[in-house]
Amino acid sequence: MPHPPPFFSAEFTTVLSTSGIYAIISPGNQKQTPFIKGRETAKSVSLLEENMDKYEKINKLKCEKDTVILAHYYVDGAVQKAADFVGDSYALAKKAAGVSQQNILFAGVSFMGESAKLLNPGKHVYMADPCAGCKMADMVTPNDVKNIKKCYPDAAVVCYVNSTAAVKAVSDVCVTSSNAVRVVRKLKEKQIYFIPDAHLAQFVAKEVPEKEFIFHNGYCPTHQQITKEGLLRAKAAHPGALTLSHPECKEEILALSDFVGSTADIIRFAREHEANEYLVATETGVFYQLEQENPGKEFFPVLKEQVCPDMKLITLDKLEYILGHLDTQQEIILDGELIDKAKKPLERMLLLAE
Ligand code: 13P
Ligand code: SF4
Repeated sequence: MPHPPPFFSAEFTTVLSTSGIYAIISPGNQKQTPFIKGRETAKSVSLLEENMDKYEKINKLKCEKDTVILAHYYVDGAVQKAADFVGDSYALAKKAAGVSQQNILFAGVSFMGESAKLLNPGKHVYMADPCAGCKMADMVTPNDVKNIKKCYPDAAVVCYVNSTAAVKAVSDVCVTSSNAVRVVRKLKEKQIYFIPDAHLAQFVAKEVPEKEFIFHNGYCPTHQQITKEGLLRAKAAHPGALTLSHPECKEEILALSDFVGSTADIIRFAREHEANEYLVATETGVFYQLEQENPGKEFFPVLKEQVCPDMKLITLDKLEYILGHLDTQQEIILDGELIDKAKKPLERMLLLAE
């Protein structure tokens, strides 16, 4: 019998920020943000000028090869600019489920491409860089899930979309950071085994106190390095700034934040809020979109090291190369039985998140 992990009941207080704004995922955040191309800022004009040749080739190849490029907000601005759609994990999963093109080229990490394939098995899904993975996704295995199920047979296995297809295949439902609260609230089970991210799990547990949570010990190395001391220093340097954080940050960061949400939620909050300065506790790729949409506002990272090395593997040159050589080396190939099992929790998420 495996040793049971620590069991937590969700007796948490609601996160209240220093400025008195509730740091919650508000119901409004469940709406999907369409990618807004944004104004042509000086940055975007200079990206265009520097890379005009590459954008032209990429656009031509996209048409010739019947390919749509989907990108996550964490990839470089130059790559976001070449994409047909940019979004958070939830918006990207929804988009991938309904594209009309025969081929999807994913500018993101492997779990995002896998999710696109699971939701659209008839399409060819290619990774802009097949080596771009997610460190957190590798922190839980199907065996971990099987062992926990022996200890807590009644628990629903809630799987953050940042996970492998093999882990999804043994889970009950998937969630992303923008829909986790809503989806977990709708589950009939009282016990929730939330994998792999402990920080997102704690955030959800506070918002859904009627459930009991079993936490896994996964985390995102990029968000984990943001410390309370670093945030306090950044707040002292920018006293008027509001703090916007991703729920993959540690609890001590969320407790000091004015808003907590997915990448798309953070972008929407900054767009809709009147403040002029923001401290942003998530991967620095979001700054491209934040700056595009808000020319009069200033955005500062809490730490300059808030970078996901895997997301930064993706470049315009790789997009161009892969579009020119669509082949099985970059294609996501999943076994049919695995697809059947792993797509169910994703499809269930899409249903429950609406
Ligand atoms: P979002 O779903 O908020 O875009 O986050 C994905 C991710 O990998 C965060 O590290
Ligand atoms: Fe994974 Fe963290 Fe990179 Fe997101 S930022 S893809 S959670 S390693």
